[in-house]
Amino acid sequence: MSDAPRVLISAGPTYEPIDAVRYLGNRSSGRLGSALATAAVAAGCQSTLLLGPTSYPAPKDSSISTQRFQSCADLQSLLEEHWPNHDLLLMAAAVADYRPCTVRTDEKLRRAAGRLSLELEATPDLLAELAARSRPDQTRIGWALEPRDRLVESARAKLERKQLDAIVANPLETLDSDEIEPMLVLADGSMHTPAPKRLAKSDFAAWLLVKSLELHRKA
Ligand code: CTP
Repeated sequence: MSDAPRVLISAGPTYEPIDAVRYLGNRSSGRLGSALATAAVAAGCQSTLLLGPTSYPAPKDSSISTQRFQSCADLQSLLEEHWPNHDLLLMAAAVADYRPCTVRTDEKLRRAAGRLSLELEATPDLLAELAARSRPDQTRIGWALEPRDRLVESARAKLERKQLDAIVANPLETLDSDEIEPMLVLADGSMHTPAPKRLAKSDFAAWLLVKSLELHRKA
């Protein structure tokens, strides 16, 4: 049996249902997560991709196990099922922070005169929850999409709050673009940047996978 780490990747947006036809979503494409799944297979790892509702095509490589999710709750169930059988988590999914409190999936809200208010509740922090349910030999890497002027300080705060091994700090502006300008911040305080600093998501995925495997092996 191979001793290569088993890599679990979450990617893409969540869609939080409002009614039978509407949802709250975000612009994440899932492109980086798909490229990470491909890079993991190329590095000889078993690779599981949990992919949200995006029109960006899932990787064609049949050795990647791809599971689709829609909402934060679906992703929560998939993480519960798959995390125990993996060694390294790359949590690139752009998970909603809020979702509608009540959902009528069997009907459509009708137009009426006046305003309509939507009451939202906070979603569970999936990554923070996993801290208590991880083995010491597992490695968790999160993402932080932040305004450029507070990038590193916000990413460090998130890394601590969610008890991560590392966090990818990403300027807000690169959410759905082809290129990215990321930085990897480790729990030991060190910061790592790829060369060049601004690069295609597929190139960053290859760089990040190597760094993540190094980090996992050192742990
Ligand atoms: N995340 C998660 N569960 C959530 C929200 C986010 O697991 N309900 C994960 C994301 O997948 C990402 C990391 O947490 O890896 C940071 O997500 P982000 O939206 O940047 O941070 P939040 O925790 O939502 O904090 P804030 O709203 O203050 O930015």
